[in-house]
Parts: sequence; structure tokens; C-alpha cells
Amino acid sequence: MSRTPYIAGNWKMHLTKRKASSLARDVAEFQGENPACKVAVFPTFLHLDYVRRNLKGSNVILGAQNCYGKKEGAYTGEISPYMLRDMGVKVVLIGHSERRHIFGETDTMMSDKVKITLRAKLDVMLCVGETLEERESGKTFAVLARQLRALKVVKTSQAERVSVAYEPVWAIGTGKTATPAMAQEAHAECRRLLGDILGAQAAATIPILYGGSVKAGNAAELLSQTDVDGALVGGASLSIHDFGPIIDAATA
Ligand code: 13P
Repeated sequence: MSRTPYIAGNWKMHLTKRKASSLARDVAEFQGENPACKVAVFPTFLHLDYVRRNLKGSNVILGAQNCYGKKEGAYTGEISPYMLRDMGVKVVLIGHSERRHIFGETDTMMSDKVKITLRAKLDVMLCVGETLEERESGKTFAVLARQLRALKVVKTSQAERVSVAYEPVWAIGTGKTATPAMAQEAHAECRRLLGDILGAQAAATIPILYGGSVKAGNAAELLSQTDVDGALVGGASLSIHDFGPIIDAATA
């Protein structure tokens, strides 16, 4: 498999500017020793500039956790991908399950966000994944198909700026991880769907990351699956002590 391993830390609504800056320095230093792995961090909007300054000179990619699906306008409290680019951001997380389930964001909103983020020349990491109820009622693949449809707006020339994170909702922050076989099955289905939407070439090259209670202890086994190209890590990305070994596992 020729896809470069990709490990991303979603810092969610955590850290202070001082802690975010210091964690950014730790990640930058660690990644310097593992150049074979693509590493991204997603701090809060408020900490982006501090993190950017502390990542300077490293290859760690600066990401944002969300954006609004418009370039500019009267959208109080929202942030446009063009503003994110202006702040040095390179990739935007779109459709995280917390956005979908806590804030009620819809599939239509996701496709607007994908479109404008790519137009702003940023990368997109689209998050998809089923709830426990959807899994137990056999709807996992239907949910993946519905959520991945947000990528229908991607042009062939933009596909290289897209990645997907499969995060089963029931595994996020719960300590329950999908088994490697479950992750592989869902990733293979995502790749098949990507083929339908964006063509075989894009499907073969788009990285698909697994997210949901990834830790140093389970990362290697998940990452060894054929279609698992990386990890989107929440809790265990908040200290280099936990995050570093996951980067190591991706390059082992
Ligand atoms: P946890 O690793 O804390 O389960 O979070 C996963 C996640 O939501 C990453 O985006």
C-alpha cells in the first residue's frame, strides 16, 4: 500500500493557549523524528495562531475543527475557510460526529462546507460514522453512503486534497474501539463508495483514518489493516506521552 500514514490529533474543546503552544512544540519535535508519517493537529479556533507559531519550521499540518459553508457575510459567530487559510490553516475537519449529533449539522451543510473549503484551497477531512443504534439495526453501510455523498461536489483535480475519517459514534470517547476487523470492513466499504463517487484513482489514494478511542495500546493493530491509513485521535492526542507512540505505531 503506497498511501502515506496519517495521524491527526483532534484537540476538541481542550487546553489553554499555553498548553496548546507547548503541546504543539512537543508534536513538532516528535514528528521531526518520524518524517515518514503525515501528522496534523486540530486545536480550537482560538488557539490556531499560537499553535501555528509553535509549529513553525516543522512539517506538522495545522487543522481547524470546523468551518461555515460560506465565504463571508452576516453569519454571527461563524468562521469561513477563507479566514482559516488566512490564519495559516491547511486542513479542515468537516462533519465530526459531535457537530452532527450535538449541534444538529446536516448532510447538506457538509456538502456546502466541503465545496467552499476546497474552493478556499484548503484540504478537507470528512468524518463519517454510524451510531450504535444504526449499527445494531444493520444500517452502517447506508449511513456511510449517505454521509460520503457530501463528496459529490469534489472535482477530480481536488480529490488529492480530501481525506476521510471513519469514526463510529459509539467508539468516540467511550473507551470502546471497533475491532480491527470491524474497522477494516467499514474502511473497505468507504473506499468502494469513494470509487463510485470520485473514481478508482481517487479511491485508491484517498487516506481513510480510523477514529474512536485510539490509544497507544490498540493503534498498531488497527493501523495494520489494509484500508486503515491512519488515525484521528481525540483524548490520546492531548499529551505527547500518549500521542507519540501512536505516531510511532504508524511508521513501525
Ligand atoms: P477519542 O479518541 O477521544 O475517542 O475521540 C475520537 C474523535 O472524536 C476524534 O475526532
